[in-house]
Amino acid sequence: MELIDGKATSAKIKAEIAEQVARFTAEGKRAPHLVAILVGHDGGSETYVANKVKACEACGFKSTVIRREADVTEDELLRLIDELNRDKNVDGFIVQLPLPRHIDEQRVTEAILPSKDVDGFHPVNVGRQSIGLPCFHSATPAGIVELLKRYNVPTRGKNCVIIGRSNIVGKPLAALMMQKGIDATVTVCHSATDNLKEVCHNADILVAALGRPEFVTADMVKDGATVIDVGTTRVPDATRKSGFRLCGDVDFKNVSPKCSFITPVPGGVGPMTIVSLMQNTLQAYLSNNK
Ligand code: GUN
Repeated sequence: MELIDGKATSAKIKAEIAEQVARFTAEGKRAPHLVAILVGHDGGSETYVANKVKACEACGFKSTVIRREADVTEDELLRLIDELNRDKNVDGFIVQLPLPRHIDEQRVTEAILPSKDVDGFHPVNVGRQSIGLPCFHSATPAGIVELLKRYNVPTRGKNCVIIGRSNIVGKPLAALMMQKGIDATVTVCHSATDNLKEVCHNADILVAALGRPEFVTADMVKDGATVIDVGTTRVPDATRKSGFRLCGDVDFKNVSPKCSFITPVPGGVGPMTIVSLMQNTLQAYLSNNK
């Protein structure tokens, strides 16, 4: 069993990006600039945005966090998005999700200019990705594919089973894994899937992205499979200062001995998601500064 180290891989990629950025700034160009809009005070969102700011620092990017209280109106948020769409000094921006219930997330997502949508959530980017056109790839699927490539995990002709059909992981990952050059045979499972255990047991690459702690047990995994764990559920843990620990969707202790490769939680997919956001921001900067 080999552990897929997302933390080390992401550090390497951030160093590669920082090297490129240093060359641009040495020529007198401005640094890439990422803006994050953070609404309210959700603990998870605060942590994610803080980690994105830290990653920007590591890459030599400028970052700005724009905060709004949870009672911000949808119109105010849409006006802010419009300003950022038109701001030439902003290469890309994200609206951290989830948003308060009175705000329509889809409307907000679609208000972002596709050329600044570095999360890759806008239907234009989702659609372009699904037919293999240049676009901003959604961050978690792109991070998973990058890990598979860097660890030389074979994908061509292999059975890739994805548990979870979310718009930000399951669906876009399915599109990427079946693309030419990756060439996996993809199955997407969800809450209505019959014989889930058997379907998973057929996987050469099993991706757990359903958000249920330790859902994937050893009897669902074929010997020699590669297992990718996207879960990050906060589970109460009185021994931690924070009062919780992050728990993946895979029963790591019992599954890992059967695997060729496996990602841990934390330190697997999570850091790669943020690095994909950095890669998208660099791509936005390069196309803005042609
Ligand atoms: N909430 C959880 N993950 C993400 C993400 O990748 N982007 C944004 N904008 N919000 C999130």
